[in-house]
Amino acid sequence: MNSERILTGHRPTGPRHLGHLVGTLETWIALQERDECFFLIADLHVLTTDFAHPQRIQANVLEVVADWLAAGIDPQRSTLILQSAVPEHAQLGLALSMLVSTARLQRVPTFKDQVRELGLQPSLGLMAYPVLQAADILLYKATRVPVGEDQLPHLELAREIARRFNALYGGTFPEPQALLSRVPRLPGLDNRVMHTSYGNALLLKDTPEETTRKVMGMYTDPTRLHPDDPGHVEGNPLFAYHEVFNPDRSEVEDLERRYRAGTVGDVEVKRRLARVLNEVLGPMRERRRELMQRPERLHEMLMEGTRAARPCAAQTLAEVYERMGLAARAVTGDPLRALSYAGGAFC
Ligand code: TRP
Repeated sequence: MNSERILTGHRPTGPRHLGHLVGTLETWIALQERDECFFLIADLHVLTTDFAHPQRIQANVLEVVADWLAAGIDPQRSTLILQSAVPEHAQLGLALSMLVSTARLQRVPTFKDQVRELGLQPSLGLMAYPVLQAADILLYKATRVPVGEDQLPHLELAREIARRFNALYGGTFPEPQALLSRVPRLPGLDNRVMHTSYGNALLLKDTPEETTRKVMGMYTDPTRLHPDDPGHVEGNPLFAYHEVFNPDRSEVEDLERRYRAGTVGDVEVKRRLARVLNEVLGPMRERRRELMQRPERLHEMLMEGTRAARPCAAQTLAEVYERMGLAARAVTGDPLRALSYAGGAFC
């Protein structure tokens, strides 16, 4: 069986939450059993929206790596990459930006949303966000990209860029395909989509008490004023969570039936949900606590992966530069680069 080349990643914007777990991480963890996986910490991408907090980025890189490993990403099997430590990401991004019109980038939905929120003239870097993301993927000639639903427009653009490049310069890149997870969108505590910056997230690193407190305060059926009113299960985040996390199907069905009939209160549904979530999160919290005791080891694991990925990146960039008529094999004096040329068929 041929294994696929996987590349995906997160921006280090803060500790990971349950939306990341079921929207992306679970799929990544399953893929690393059989495929060749590259997991990217996209720190350059953070600058597109937040370039004023350098220390924060540094700290968040470690938070994200700790959460990934605690959730089950295995650095023995998969390659972790710190984007800014591999200059070929930015270099390929710039080269590929020549093949995309600004009109096309202005139509990307995430860009339109952010421009609306920003109320300012967007930066060139923000507009180029999906071009850099395409470079992340194409640099490793990835064939599959497991992402959340919100990333599909970016994947479409990456595919367009791959086709355009191949048509202009000859077959170079596979067209990367998106892979969606079992839960594309998890509601947050307030029933909007769960998002780090909305303050509505259940974090993987929350203590059992924090998790319980957050669950007890969760949004539920607003039309239900008394526990014996018949309640709505559809569109109620409590039940969305039970569906996703509660392994006991018969308990979920029983709660749903009784909720509709008005014979179980929100407090009971929430208590059981808190118990279920704490069972899911318990082992991850334990692993995370151990990992965070040695942050320098975490950093070293990230750097080991980054060093291992570099030859592949350098090789693709040399190929791209050569095809585009640039100085592909110029002597740079960079030992890693020399290594990649000697290494040959890594990519
Ligand atoms: N844009 C992605 C997100 O916000 C992060 C990302 C950067 C990414 N580069 C990538 C995802 C390459 C997949 C592939 O979640």
